[in-house]
Amino acid sequence: MTESIVLFGPPGAGKGTQAGRIVELTGKPQISTGDMLRAAVKAGSPMGLAAKEYMDAGLLVSDEVIIGLIEERLQNDDAGQGVLFDGFPRTIPQAESLEEIATVSSVISIEVPDDAIVDRIVGRRMDPETGEIYHVSFKPAPTEIQDRLVQRPDDTEETVRARLGAYHTQTAPLADWYSERGLLIRIDGDASIEQVGASVEEAIASIS
Ligand code: AP5
Repeated sequence: MTESIVLFGPPGAGKGTQAGRIVELTGKPQISTGDMLRAAVKAGSPMGLAAKEYMDAGLLVSDEVIIGLIEERLQNDDAGQGVLFDGFPRTIPQAESLEEIATVSSVISIEVPDDAIVDRIVGRRMDPETGEIYHVSFKPAPTEIQDRLVQRPDDTEETVRARLGAYHTQTAPLADWYSERGLLIRIDGDASIEQVGASVEEAIASIS
């Protein structure tokens, strides 16, 4: 299957949490534009420094920068059999550009109401050594690694509200855009991590 899958949903919906399961089931590599941007920020590249201002404010980085990153990443050998896009596309122009460079077979939309999002994001912690995502209440990390956990700079309540605003105005319209193309699979993300994982597995089984 050379087609790619899009993992879609608001900030904190659980895209990163569920991506590993889809990678295991499909063998497709995960491409997260958020992770790529954070790597550019860490490397201190001019693009990373410019992107950081938008990320810290909870705003979307420009379509031009994002599409450039994706075009470059799709040149890698591991992208030949299709990929799992996580957090991309996020605007209709991004989706239109993607149509020209890759074939999307399905869009898995993890749906979570805004009031659940804020708690999820403010309580998120990450293990910088393994990349594993935890939550102070919903997925506590083992005691022995708690000292090394980090919090993303954009995971404050104020920034989450800005990210949700950007999601509703610029990203949410893509659900209808993909639905009109018969590609959208909606999943109830307002459930436990295990229950959402089971729905993700069902979705993958239905398209394989
Ligand atoms: P990005 O890194 O993509 O952030 P995001 O979309 O806001 O998504 P998150 O990583 O916050 O959430 P997630 O859905 O992966 O949730 P997670 O699994 O971690 O983007 C960051 C920034 O980069 C953007 O704001 C923008 O500036 C820029 N950017 C990136 N891509 C862009 C693009 N294409 N165009 C323009 N700009 C772009 O889960 C969250 C927490 O909840 C965790 O603690 C987890 O343990 C917990 N959790 C997960 N599932 C559940 C559950 N079912 N029940 C309870 N808790 C749960």
